[in-house]
Amino acid sequence: MSSSPIGPAVQSAHDSHATHVSQARSRPWPGVVAAFRDRLDIDKTATPVTLLEGNTPLIPAPRLARALGGGFELFLKYEGMNPTGSFKDRGMCAAMTQAVADGAKAVICASTGNTAASAAAYAARAGLKCVVLVPDGKIAAGKLAGALSYGAQVISINGNFDAGLRMVREATERAPIVLVNNINPARLQGQKTAAFEICDALGGAPDWLCLPVGNAGNITAYWMGFTEYFHDGLALARPHLLGAQAAGSAPIVTGKVVEQPDTVATAIRIGNPVRWQQALTALDESDGHIMAVSDQEILEWHKKVASIEGVFVEPASAISLAAIARGQREGSLNMRAKRVVCVMTGHGLKDPDTAIQGFKAPVTIEARVEDLLTAIA
Ligand code: F0G
Repeated sequence: MSSSPIGPAVQSAHDSHATHVSQARSRPWPGVVAAFRDRLDIDKTATPVTLLEGNTPLIPAPRLARALGGGFELFLKYEGMNPTGSFKDRGMCAAMTQAVADGAKAVICASTGNTAASAAAYAARAGLKCVVLVPDGKIAAGKLAGALSYGAQVISINGNFDAGLRMVREATERAPIVLVNNINPARLQGQKTAAFEICDALGGAPDWLCLPVGNAGNITAYWMGFTEYFHDGLALARPHLLGAQAAGSAPIVTGKVVEQPDTVATAIRIGNPVRWQQALTALDESDGHIMAVSDQEILEWHKKVASIEGVFVEPASAISLAAIARGQREGSLNMRAKRVVCVMTGHGLKDPDTAIQGFKAPVTIEARVEDLLTAIA
């Protein structure tokens, strides 16, 4: 050490950095099931079916916070960074791990798109047959492309998600095929791990956790996760939950089943959520709030989160930002001095068509630098 050309103090700092780096390299992220095995109520001995999902970035978003009125700390939990581009991978790895342990040969789900893509990928990984039911014409291009590419049998129905879910529930009672919608309890076990990651990253729970609500599995799973950490003393408090639904598909907000749900945020085009009651319990226990926002507000914040912070999400994922904007404006929400996490549930590349529709086509010029310099706005 004394012969070190860079001196002992610098050398030891250098050593500790080297140790840190090599430890990080020697222990790569193992995926959600292996990382949180003790906390997941699934077969503890099963070999994980994993694409190394989870461990997604929690991105500070100070400029977006200012655009939303300011005076609070905002983080985006970027779940679009999961292997198939949505939070569904957390639950799907757990459900597929359990299905394989149970000897399943095939899985099925109804989906607005992301669950379908995720089920298809994890089934491919596990070597299982996968069948997905999607609403005809109401599935974003990136989701359909994923489900097809991962090799699922994709069946389009003349009906919405709720009708598809009724069909697959009945089908699994009649045929030996495992349901991987969020009625499957393993799905919530996997999804609750996002709450653990947020608490681990922040050193405790945020004041508010804000997310879109469709079939209401995710809000239920987050509440489960926060509650477990709280009861085990790993977080001193639990957050308030802010749920958001699209005005044309807002059964929990209105208290009524929506027979013909409609919204540009096709991911959450759901009129009769399976986990409705649990969502109400979570909202109640967290002293939370659920609200509806228009498609126009969703699209406004869908654009803003990308252009202000460089985080590209699908329309449904921007809904909690739209809800905060409206709540602050109307005075129904006070985020002042609070630490707020908004869950960006799906990647923007899932729905390129909706993103592109929001813009004029790019100008085309001749391939000459003079034209370029004239064109630069
Ligand atoms: N955000 C995205 C991007 C989704 O795909 C979904 C649900 C949600 C939010 C709502 O989550 O249903 O647990 O309340 N997508 C399901 C699907 C319905 O089939 O992919 P939830």
